[in-house]
Amino acid sequence: MKALILSGGKGTRLRPLTYTTAKQLLPVANKPILFFVADQIVQAGIREIGVIISPETGESIRAALGDGQRWGASIRYILQDRPGGLAHAVKTAQPFLGEDPFLMFLGDNLIQGGVSDLVQDFVEARAGGGSAAPDAAILLKPVPDPRQFGVAVLDSASGRVERLVEKPKDPPSNLALVGVYLFSPRIHQAIARIQPSWRGELEITDAIQELLDMGARVDARVLAGWWLDTGKKDDILEANRVVLDEYCRQSIQGEVDAESHIVGRVEVAAGARIIRSTVRGPAVIGAGAVVEDCFVGPFSAIGAGTHLCHLSLEHSVVLEDCMLSGVGRIEDSLIGRNVRVTRADDGRQALRLFLGDDSQLAV
Ligand code: TTP
Repeated sequence: MKALILSGGKGTRLRPLTYTTAKQLLPVANKPILFFVADQIVQAGIREIGVIISPETGESIRAALGDGQRWGASIRYILQDRPGGLAHAVKTAQPFLGEDPFLMFLGDNLIQGGVSDLVQDFVEARAGGGSAAPDAAILLKPVPDPRQFGVAVLDSASGRVERLVEKPKDPPSNLALVGVYLFSPRIHQAIARIQPSWRGELEITDAIQELLDMGARVDARVLAGWWLDTGKKDDILEANRVVLDEYCRQSIQGEVDAESHIVGRVEVAAGARIIRSTVRGPAVIGAGAVVEDCFVGPFSAIGAGTHLCHLSLEHSVVLEDCMLSGVGRIEDSLIGRNVRVTRADDGRQALRLFLGDDSQLAV
């Protein structure tokens, strides 16, 4: 069994951060989303990983994951020349995938409890063998508004997939496709038979529907835990909240002065300094960060080397090497690298801005 991580795409909904960063490398609880994905693939026992990259952000993905040694895995990079859709990514990876079954994992998705059970079920069902063996298995999650997702209809007797509909106006079920799939090599035949959709992409839902039309068996598993698709700003904040809530433990490696208070589960990384401040967890403060005369509230992740001074901040993600000072209260914010937000001391009330394209500011 191989794995294919999809880390190409455009990331338009996360601009301006995605002008300089691959969205899969944005941190949740100070750890790149892609690292959680790699962890879960290796936990499922897969060691041969292909990573789809785009020409724009491929080098940064390669620099972050390396050759896979950190995970005891071997990683190969596969360049997708344009974001032609999830099935186009599989087509591009065909020489790497060969005749092996594989796990496909969207590089910006997080799944509670990992994918080991899904992988094991698929392997066992295929070992049963013969023409009745499944050629795909998908993970589903009930969602309140299925109209923005690919949706599956299951056979009530067997629990297998009967049909799939992409972004239905009138949803036939509330079961959305989560960004994790298992395929036999037969998926390549299905992809060869489909046409691009109205948006010009080769859609994986069309390819799975084609598999069904070819008479293949497609299994489904409904995910009991959370599923986070980090495509937009509020999704990143929500992922940060959920992951901090679940994984954050108290660990103080940096310095906390006598006038500061650490309340609850807070990680203060080595070299970080907390000065005359209160930090209320769950929260993480990155290596070398400085928090001075501040209140840092729950569900905050402060990147390495960032300096916070005279402010209150809550439910926010701040990346590395920022300087935020004297600006009152910050909430529900996602701030990129090297950003400066400071107060001018000249008594004037005007905002003085230097914002990149697609920045958003609510005052
Ligand atoms: P999406 O979030 O659907 O697409 P996108 O990255 O282009 O984002 P946006 O809509 O904001 O412009 O992609 C899901 C995942 O799959 C994501 O990790 C990127 C990856 N992907 C590819 O690797 N190749 C592709 O052709 C596409 C469409 C996505």
